[in-house]
Amino acid sequence: ATPSLKEAYKNYFPVGVAVGPRNLTGPEADLIVQQFSSVTPENAMKMGPIHPEENRYLWRDADAIVDFAQKNGLKVRGHTLCWHNQTPRWFFTDSTGKQVSRDVLLGRLKQHIDAVVGRYKGRIYAWDVVNEAVPDTSEAVYRQSKFYEIIGEDYIEKAFEYAHAADPDAKLFYNDYNTENSAKREKIYRLLKKLTAKKVPVHGVGLQGHWSIYEPTRQELETSIRQFAGLGLQVQITELDVSVYPKEHERRAKKPTDTSQLTPEMVKQQTAQYKMLFDTFRKHKRTLTGVTFWNVSDKTTWLDNFPVPGRKDYPLLFDQNYQPKEAFWGVVKF
Ligand code: G3I
Repeated sequence: ATPSLKEAYKNYFPVGVAVGPRNLTGPEADLIVQQFSSVTPENAMKMGPIHPEENRYLWRDADAIVDFAQKNGLKVRGHTLCWHNQTPRWFFTDSTGKQVSRDVLLGRLKQHIDAVVGRYKGRIYAWDVVNEAVPDTSEAVYRQSKFYEIIGEDYIEKAFEYAHAADPDAKLFYNDYNTENSAKREKIYRLLKKLTAKKVPVHGVGLQGHWSIYEPTRQELETSIRQFAGLGLQVQITELDVSVYPKEHERRAKKPTDTSQLTPEMVKQQTAQYKMLFDTFRKHKRTLTGVTFWNVSDKTTWLDNFPVPGRKDYPLLFDQNYQPKEAFWGVVKF
């Protein structure tokens, strides 16, 4: 029998995967149950999908995922309670279309978090409470989102307080990407330092892990893990994938590589990169309390449409026919 990620890592950390309702039947469902010990809803619990209008919640997809997890003995990570993306416009406006006040928005945020966290209380062990609140490029510490503009910087601590009140046993995470970039890492570190100093109920930091065969380096990764652990926080890798394209390079060159073929060289580099990543994760098992992949297999990944729409990517451990790739063996055999 094929070894499994969850078996190989049972003495280290849960290994999770991002899923949507479409993954819960057929061969993907089998693969999820066979390989993983945790799931994260890829979209179903975000504000837009779950709370499209005031006082109207669409629980169906989120319920289906949580039920599937429970039936199959999988843990659930909740994602995400407060994000500038995929948040419906109604959240920030009144019935005349005018922007709401700080008090109204805080009230809505509280109600939203109460309802969503409350519904799954005891069934979701960890929540991404605030997602991507720090910008990549500007000097600013806080992303100029509607939450920030209308409420001010304390929207972040409020979100954590509301979530903690709704489920005091859930572990609460701040989640972000590009956390190995030293300038952004410093900003996130200062933000979390401030929150922990104020005794805000934040328990961990999620490093999304949207990486590539070229980045991060072992040293960059270890610096991030050590630095955040130094604040007494858990660290989880929450959205892992390893693109076969040179992301940073493409961003700087503002030009994508014009290929969508998976070359033997890419396969080799990806295997090495995944091996390095998991060697490092195992080494830090006291700090690292979870690793979640962002999508099940190379058959469909959000990277097929980002940053280049329609360019196929191959970032996961299972191929387009759900078979383990070379990188899989590098991860399970150690
Ligand atoms: O559900 C609608 C459907 O009704 C509509 O017809 C269709 C047409 O475009 O869109 C569907 O929504 C899409 C949704 O995924 C569900 O498939 C959205 O357009 C699309 O933008 C959305 O993309 C998601 C993205 O977050 C949104 O920013 C990706 O699936 C999801 O993988 C991605 O995940 C994020 C994490 O939450 C946070 N970190 C970064 C990560 C990757 O961007």
